[in-house]
Amino acid sequence: MTSKTKIPFLDLVTPHQELEAELLAVAKKAFSTAGFIGGQMVEDFEHEFASFCDTKYCVGVNSGTDALRFAFMAAGVKTGDIVVTVSHTFIATTEAISQAGARPDFVDIDERTYCMDPRKLAQYLEHQCSVDAKTGRLIHRKLQAPVTAVVPVHIYGQTADMDPILDLAGKYNLIVIEDACQAHGAEYFSKKANAWRKAGSMGHAAAFSFYPGKNLGACGEAGAVTTDNEAAARTMRMLRDHGQAQKYYHQLEGYNGRLDALQAGFLTTKLRHLADWNRQRQDAAKLYDQAFAALDGVVAPFCPESVRPVHHLYVIRVHNRDAVQKHLAKSGIGTGIHYPVPLHLQEAYRHLQYPLGSFPVCERVASEILSLPMYPQLRADHIRRVVSEVATFLSSRQRPTAVEQPQPVAL
Ligand SMILES: Cc1ncc(COP(=O)(O)O)c(C=O)c1O
Repeated sequence: MTSKTKIPFLDLVTPHQELEAELLAVAKKAFSTAGFIGGQMVEDFEHEFASFCDTKYCVGVNSGTDALRFAFMAAGVKTGDIVVTVSHTFIATTEAISQAGARPDFVDIDERTYCMDPRKLAQYLEHQCSVDAKTGRLIHRKLQAPVTAVVPVHIYGQTADMDPILDLAGKYNLIVIEDACQAHGAEYFSKKANAWRKAGSMGHAAAFSFYPGKNLGACGEAGAVTTDNEAAARTMRMLRDHGQAQKYYHQLEGYNGRLDALQAGFLTTKLRHLADWNRQRQDAAKLYDQAFAALDGVVAPFCPESVRPVHHLYVIRVHNRDAVQKHLAKSGIGTGIHYPVPLHLQEAYRHLQYPLGSFPVCERVASEILSLPMYPQLRADHIRRVVSEVATFLSSRQRPTAVEQPQPVAL
């Protein structure tokens, strides 16, 4: 390999070439029956993915966004409700909240894990809300609206700290919907349960995206909801299919949000490889971690002992992020930023009226994060070259002080 070899941010071609025969067999099977919508392929995938996530039910839908929306609606989130999440996520999290008729609201993230900070959630619930004496509902004092659900996002393939979030949800009677769109197979050690729990099995329901670049990606759009709640699963099956459980008998108005049979077949095939692919991502992350440990000026991902992450993304923090990114691009190394503008500062949420400074951790993190190449087929020599290019850039500069290691925030 020459130093000019390009290292893409993501390689989606190689896994499809490796699995070409298996995937073509799925397509042939679908063509031979013309069973493109619903049917056995969808049911088989739902069964296998529920089992992978340690849940009773999986409802296949056509995107992670629909998965979130249907999960909110089936859980009883209503027009006028407030649903609390984080601003450091893809906009689909809050789009789905709005599409369910609710208003998204935010709490800040933990500076080390980039997931929802349970201490900030506690402060929000204790100081900004109060329990209505008559109805027993939790009301946001300023907005005068009920807070009904909370959405921890398992960002970058690492689960949020679920024990305290679930405790708070229990205390305030809130529904927990996990956004597990980036966390297929991630695990969290619950001290309460004294057991490892799979992402997607801890809340009332959880949404997964199978967008092609995800750890488990379809060959197009796809998503799923996992849950142990039979009634919610039944409602979501209707919501995805025009509100019908029986053809042309509509119990409610629903959506065209089904999972294609072809995508379900592809996903079943790929699911058999997911554990290996996640292990390869973990190995790649370990190599990055070891190399970055010797480098000042870079904050590598932090992973608490209570989490087994699946490294959907490998995200470092550096000062001068944009210049580092440009340097890597010039060296043929692809990178990404997930996400450059926190949701509360997006034009789309101007009406929520959050000024700059509302969520300082999230805002600081957004200006420093850089997602490096990460995929199962990423080679060790590629990882070494990425790190060496970051090191070259940093040593060629009169850098400002190294990024400060974040300190835990006192309550
Ligand atoms: C955190 C998060 N939530 C929701 C979604 C939405 O998933 P989809 O693109 O399948 O609708 C994504 C996908 O990028 C995501 O990363």
